[in-house]
Amino acid sequence: MKILGIETSCDETALALFENEKLLYSKVSSHIVHKNYGGVVPELASREHDKILPQLFKDCFKTLDFSSNELDLIAVTQGPGLAGSLISGASFAKGLSLALNIPIIGINHLEAHIFANILSDPKLSFPFVCLLVSGGHTQLWYVKGLSKYKLLGETRDDAAGEAFDKGARILGLGYPGGPEIERHSKNGNPKKINFPRALMKENNLEFSFSGLKTSLLYYCRKNKKNNISDIAASYQNAIIETLLEKLKWALRLTNCNVCVIAGGVAANAHLRNLAEKFLHKKKIIFPRMDLCTDNAAMIAFLAYLYSKDKKFTKIDFKIFPNMKINHNEY
Ligand code: KG4
Ligand code: ZN
Repeated sequence: MKILGIETSCDETALALFENEKLLYSKVSSHIVHKNYGGVVPELASREHDKILPQLFKDCFKTLDFSSNELDLIAVTQGPGLAGSLISGASFAKGLSLALNIPIIGINHLEAHIFANILSDPKLSFPFVCLLVSGGHTQLWYVKGLSKYKLLGETRDDAAGEAFDKGARILGLGYPGGPEIERHSKNGNPKKINFPRALMKENNLEFSFSGLKTSLLYYCRKNKKNNISDIAASYQNAIIETLLEKLKWALRLTNCNVCVIAGGVAANAHLRNLAEKFLHKKKIIFPRMDLCTDNAAMIAFLAYLYSKDKKFTKIDFKIFPNMKINHNEY
């Protein structure tokens, strides 16, 4: 079964081809137009998707030695994400599904992030706890199998990725903020400034990062920014230690020994380095770097899992900018 995956939830246009448990093609094109604005401009993002998608599609089949007529299934991100961006991807996908007369599956982007770990490590078995840390979400999930999820906790305000992005903006660094803060932290002292950690009462699995961001703002107003690497390292450390501490509690409360980290923040080196220290004796899985941030391989892979039960989506489906992971079935 040849599955074409399409991902356009935010500012990356991505296409992937998955066949018989194998990823044959995966390409991500990041929009550079947003760099000058310090964040994603939704209108520009959807225009970029419309421009890049047909090009990526052509390149994909130029690279592979078969034609698009041989596709069996189209998978596309249905939500969550920016409305205009989701519509661009869904319209392209629906056009293909109609033209090729093949089924389509609308995929939940967050669920795909979780399953990127299985694509990365096929031996990973259920159950596991997943710390999902992306630009818009920070959640802890107990994952018992496909469609069997329990939400253990989530952020009350900003997501961890958002805290990185907003923090970078306060520090005058570029977008996206995560890699920028990570780069500037390299030679800094993570213990130099004691930024606050919220909701740290033992076993509380909720997160809150908006106070941390405000405290960075006040620190920068009061102090000169000449020790930027110490500030970045301390700020990064406050986010990462909070995430790991709560992941540790989640594992204890669920009596689970395996955890996976998913989403863009999973690319963070400090998180990867500290995980062992916080979670010793636990099995910790990080997705491959190219599967941490937004990509279409994870969309095609999750569609592959659902296609086994023929769980296709009607062609007139709507996109859902606030789509949640359905956890009623657990
Ligand atoms: O999963 P993702 O690519 O897109 C969403 O679904 O939101 O996550 C993007 C987020 C951004 O907030 C970005 O700053 C953060 O992931 N990020 C990182 C790193 N790389 C990306 N945060 C910390 N360290 C990184 N190396
Ligand atoms: Zn994402």
